[in-house]
Amino acid sequence: MRKAVKLGYTTILPNLALSNDEGRLLVMWGEPRSTTPPPTFHTMAFTNRLAILAGGLGGLGCATGKLLHAHGAKLALLYAPAEAERLQPTVAETYGYQNTSEAGDSIKGYACDITSPDSVSEAFSAIAQDNVAFPAMLVNAAGYVNLTALETFPPEDALKHYVINLFGPTLTGQAFARMYIERKKAEGEGKAAPGRIVNIASQAAHVALWHHGPYCASKAGLIGLSKCMASEWGPHGITTNTISPGPIMTEMGKKAWSDPAAREEYLKSVPTGSFADPDEVARIVHFLCEDKAKSINGNDVRLDGGFTIR
Ligand SMILES: NC(=O)c1ccc[n+]([C@@H]2O[C@H](COP(=O)([O-])OP(=O)(O)OC[C@H]3O[C@@H](n4cnc5c(N)ncnc54)[C@H](O)[C@@H]3O)[C@@H](O)[C@H]2O)c1
Repeated sequence: MRKAVKLGYTTILPNLALSNDEGRLLVMWGEPRSTTPPPTFHTMAFTNRLAILAGGLGGLGCATGKLLHAHGAKLALLYAPAEAERLQPTVAETYGYQNTSEAGDSIKGYACDITSPDSVSEAFSAIAQDNVAFPAMLVNAAGYVNLTALETFPPEDALKHYVINLFGPTLTGQAFARMYIERKKAEGEGKAAPGRIVNIASQAAHVALWHHGPYCASKAGLIGLSKCMASEWGPHGITTNTISPGPIMTEMGKKAWSDPAAREEYLKSVPTGSFADPDEVARIVHFLCEDKAKSINGNDVRLDGGFTIR
């Protein structure tokens, strides 16, 4: 019979559950002499909390949503109106529900063009109306990239980078902060869950990537914006941080890095010699959203295998 007991991080006993100092279950050992690997268990630390994911149907949005959901969070997936037909298949493939009806309150989709103030306002009003859980987390994981030589970058395409990658998170951040502040007031002092914003920037915010001009500028701007969110909304109980990944083979990653020769050449400059995985982003988001991460505010976490240190 298994028994959950409070042990230290370092104590390992067969046939017992292992938890950390807060009594959080980390792993549960199988029966003695069992050859089955020990199953891992998630905490439900985000139960009764809503995570709002802009770019919720994208590669990094899905990986992040899956991990936060596994830890109890309810999800509001914001998706571009043009990708509406992807909602149900993505929910089925990522979360194992047949569709959003089966997911019920735990996962809801909201059409939202993050570059439109009206669309953002409508989506956040609908989220407030549904009121499935306390709006505790916002992850900005929508984005756009197109590679062109800087001197010939079409102006409208340059602008598209700025509005999606920078103006979009400005609007969703504002809408989230207003919603959080209002709901926190309604909950009463000391009762609301901490607020967390995680904006997905890029290594392109830190270094000049070839033919990525407006993308680099938009991501550097996003880090600047995030520092202001951290500064102005920290006093309201919301921390804001950014993650700066190197290439990850999502749809966007494939667009920029589908050429094997270019990939191989690029990887010669990466100390770890590999691309990051979507799960690595999700794990950093999860860490930054934990209650214990209360003093991490205005930081950027680089996830680039060390590319930008050289
Ligand atoms: N994949 C990479 O190599 C990589 C590296 C560094 C940073 N990033 C950043 O991570 C974030 C997520 O990227 P991803 O790899 O998951 O890409 P992805 O292409 O898989 O997902 C991006 C999502 O953003 C959505 N989107 C685009 N415009 C939108 C709009 N106006 N309104 C609402 N949604 C919109 C797209 O429809 C798509 O679902 C982006 O900000 C990207 O810049 C990605």
